[in-house]
Amino acid sequence: MSPQPAVSPQPTDRTPRVVLGVSGGIAAYKAVEVCRRLVDSGCHVAPVLTEGALRFVGAPTFSALASEPAHTSLFDDASPIPHTRLGQEADVVVVAPATARVLADYASGRSGDLLTATLLATRAPVVVAPAMHTEMWEQPAVQENLATLSARGVVIVPPEEGRLAGGDVGAGRLAAPETIAAAVLGVLADGPSRGRDLDGLKVLVTAGGTRERIDAVRVISNRSSGKQGYALAAEAAARGARVTLVTTVERPVPPGVAEVVRVESAAEMEAAVVPRAPGQDVIVMAAAVADFRPVEPSERKIKKDGGPPAISLEPTHDFLVDLGRAKPAGQVLVGFAAETDDVLANARRKLVAKQLDLIVANDVGAPGAGFEHDTNRVVLVFANRVDHDVPLSDKRTVARAVLDAVVDLRKGAAPTAPDLTDGTSQGDPIQ
Ligand code: CTP
Repeated sequence: MSPQPAVSPQPTDRTPRVVLGVSGGIAAYKAVEVCRRLVDSGCHVAPVLTEGALRFVGAPTFSALASEPAHTSLFDDASPIPHTRLGQEADVVVVAPATARVLADYASGRSGDLLTATLLATRAPVVVAPAMHTEMWEQPAVQENLATLSARGVVIVPPEEGRLAGGDVGAGRLAAPETIAAAVLGVLADGPSRGRDLDGLKVLVTAGGTRERIDAVRVISNRSSGKQGYALAAEAAARGARVTLVTTVERPVPPGVAEVVRVESAAEMEAAVVPRAPGQDVIVMAAAVADFRPVEPSERKIKKDGGPPAISLEPTHDFLVDLGRAKPAGQVLVGFAAETDDVLANARRKLVAKQLDLIVANDVGAPGAGFEHDTNRVVLVFANRVDHDVPLSDKRTVARAVLDAVVDLRKGAAPTAPDLTDGTSQGDPIQ
């Protein structure tokens, strides 16, 4: 006997409807957890499994956990045209894992099965979470399909680096179920997509923590993972910007990013950013740039026999100050303030000192926020507008909020009126 669908409220006007597409990859088992998380978050989840997915996971598992039985075929469903019902009723369609085949079919408009037909039959926002072996992920054909989908407004939840099927290690592992679920919930909370509201703009984003050499093998660095910077680059590219990403970390390059400049130290980052700055419409300094570096890094490895070395440090140059001073008219300059104490006061001080238009105040001591996490909680602090609180969300949603603010600043939008009911937090510490 096949299990009955889990009891969940019948969809009402307020129950968001999610089509969860599962395609044929080893990571299909993780989609079970995505399904459970979305149901637990109050969504009505309709699973659609491809033939390939059914080789890895069973439809009864999804039927038991989702809000309606799993759909597996264009022809064996109770409804004669399941793809149009599923597509029309969906508030969001998410495909996790998305195989190279499904991405290619969707990008080229081919509907060979129920999942691809549903993707073509929906006007709802679509989220795809690709997963595949590193060689496949890095194929220009796959990357071009993703760039096409991203340019059309599809939200891409990029794969992570890690252990893959067969014991290989590399980029291509499906993002964590909580990251995928958070992206779906972010899209639902967010309403319709922003479209290409950064079309034609040049956006430079820095990401990661700089590394300052002590000797041939050792560095001074910080815990920045670059995830927030990459999410900003991905979101800006999806919205049509020509994105330059200056990064210290090796992560899969988000689809549509035009230029990637790899750097290590604060000085290298400065050398990459400063000459490019005058031509940019928007600069987002999400990188955690070292404030100090060893005065005389050793060319050779320092041996431990001589005891702990005395390392003299000197300040690095704060080139965001230079960017603020030399800012061309119309450019929007955004900084980040990673803080643990007096978060908003420190952020505001840096906003003024560095002549920024916006600073993203990031309490890196708060649960689920800051370095290494997939989620973040920030306050957007402006020169001439009321602060805007972005509650704990996945980093892509935070990126969307930052770029929404950039778009508003470019329009010269009037300062928003304080809304005392929504936790607007001028002067309050981030909880
Ligand atoms: N920044 C920079 N160059 C530096 C240091 C910081 O461009 N040498 C930029 C960062 O990328 C960030 C902003 O300045 O966008 C704030 O960085 P942060 O380290 O928070 O502030 P600092 O001014 O270095 O102050 P403190 O370390 O005392 O908090």
